[in-house]
Amino acid sequence: MTSSAATADATSDPAPRESSRPAFWDERYRAYPDLFSAAPNAIVAAEADRLPDGAEVLEVAAGEGRNARFLAERGHPVTALDFAPAGLDALQQTAAEENLPITRVCADILTWTPDRRWDAIVVTFLQLLPEERPRLFDRLRHLLRPGGLLIGVFFRPDHHTDAYADVGPPVADRMLSPAEIRQYLPAAGLHRCGPVDRHLDEGRIAGLCALAVVVYEAVDA
Ligand SMILES: C[S@@+](CC[C@H](N)C(=O)[O-])C[C@H]1O[C@@H](n2cnc3c(N)ncnc32)[C@H](O)[C@@H]1O
Repeated sequence: MTSSAATADATSDPAPRESSRPAFWDERYRAYPDLFSAAPNAIVAAEADRLPDGAEVLEVAAGEGRNARFLAERGHPVTALDFAPAGLDALQQTAAEENLPITRVCADILTWTPDRRWDAIVVTFLQLLPEERPRLFDRLRHLLRPGGLLIGVFFRPDHHTDAYADVGPPVADRMLSPAEIRQYLPAAGLHRCGPVDRHLDEGRIAGLCALAVVVYEAVDA
């Protein structure tokens, strides 16, 4: 597995919240084999037809790589990045068994600086803090080739009300509104950026979810 200086190292991570540390996610992946479904996120599956044949995809915060596997099965070479090794270890097993074209990278998306770009980026349910999100979107834009596509699915803050399933981050500041996403991406490249209410059945993400969905084409890279 590719690694970088910015990889999981809880001892040097000054993050104040446990859930900002790779170890938090490693524990969850080890404790809950059903944390996420084997199937891809429903919105990623629906949007995948937008990707040109053979497009090289980076999945950011891939976890156990359910989206990476789905895209690789469709013929896309996929780079699956996460800062928690446990999810990537699980992905290695299934990807090797199925001989899928997936490269795993254990790194923090906020500090990772590869010397290449991708045709598409997929990110689902990455839960960063408000002060981290400008950097996240800056990195995502930088990592896309001109004309490349970003497909993103996040919980939006409405999810924290009683109308929705009791799943996802316990604190709403890890959720994103479509309005916030619009602050980070040039309007000219937005194919879609809005709220979606959807029943999901994706492991522990089960029930009615308030989502923010973005599909962005890199217009300025
Ligand atoms: C809620 S899980 C979603 C996993 C996957 N996207 C899915 O939908 O199945 C969030 C993932 O984000 C990863 N993550 C959180 N912060 C990260 C960071 N700064 N860099 C890379 N991965 C991160 C965690 O390790 C975890 O695997």
